[in-house]
Amino acid sequence: MRVGLVGLGVMGWRIGVNLKNSGKLDVVYNRTQSKAQEFSERYQVKSASSLKELVQDSDFIILMLSDDTAVRETVTSMIPMLKGKTLIDMSTISPSLSMELAIEVSKVGGKMYDAPVVGTSIMVEQKKLTVLVGGPEEGFREVQDLLMSTASSVLYMGKNGMGLYAKLVNNLLIGAYVASMAEAFNLGVRSGLDPKQVAEFLAKYSSARSPTSEIKAGKMATRDYSTQFATKHMRKDLEIIDREAQKLGIINPMSSLALQLYRMAEAMGFTEEDYVSVLEVFSRK
Ligand SMILES: NC(=O)c1ccc[n+]([C@@H]2O[C@H](COP(=O)([O-])OP(=O)(O)OC[C@H]3O[C@@H](n4cnc5c(N)ncnc54)[C@H](OP(=O)(O)O)[C@@H]3O)[C@@H](O)[C@H]2O)c1
Repeated sequence: MRVGLVGLGVMGWRIGVNLKNSGKLDVVYNRTQSKAQEFSERYQVKSASSLKELVQDSDFIILMLSDDTAVRETVTSMIPMLKGKTLIDMSTISPSLSMELAIEVSKVGGKMYDAPVVGTSIMVEQKKLTVLVGGPEEGFREVQDLLMSTASSVLYMGKNGMGLYAKLVNNLLIGAYVASMAEAFNLGVRSGLDPKQVAEFLAKYSSARSPTSEIKAGKMATRDYSTQFATKHMRKDLEIIDREAQKLGIINPMSSLALQLYRMAEAMGFTEEDYVSVLEVFSRK
């Protein structure tokens, strides 16, 4: 089984390292070729000079790309070559787009899975990711075996699109949660509490503490906005939730409000920074 990886950003690079260390990575490709060359030199994995070359050299193709546009462009250009191949898309994109692409892939005799992840870049390094898989059940075991090289749990959620819907459930919650944490943190600090103490309280003792507060509270205390998950990606996920909620005819007041706050953080210049930078929206007032 030959495995190719497309997308060597924050997550893709680290996933690539895990796959390579498990002996399960044969070839990489990245839009900005210099990143793929750097990966190739560091880890002795072939760098394909084109997507076509990567597809030819792979039976399983893993994608870890930013958004709908990136996945649509990449998959569309691959479709004619996907007969007998399995495409595993780990990007967080619209479930409707993923389902549409899966149909096109199956028409040429290929298989597609949506396989978005829960967890940050640190959790990839620790192999503590959870992967939420949607797609044909009969090929799931092979997908699971492969992804267990970079995750602690690989869960089958149902047909195409269901992995992504499960991921949106998670990100609705953490998007609203971190925005609420920022508001609470700002209240604490502005009332005169020590920022480090408020952070420690949120991470360790609050009745609403969570794995997310453990990771993010310390970053709030030190205004450390180094990127684990970029504000632009959280904004993108909340936009997907908004569109899907409209299609489903449901209300989504919490995520709509959070979306506006992350948009404000982007307008203040924090697009590429970690989404915990939403704190600035509160603390500058
Ligand atoms: N970071 C996290 O903690 C985290 C956690 C869970 C889920 N996710 C999701 O995982 C995905 C990747 O996140 P990331 O943090 O790794 O993003 P990232 O660092 O921004 O990397 C994005 C990757 O997509 C490529 N790309 C962007 N636009 C493209 C296009 N039009 N055509 C081809 N390639 C394109 C980039 O290539 P270039 O190098 O050429 O720009 C890069 O390889 C996102 O959907 C995100 O929501 C991230």
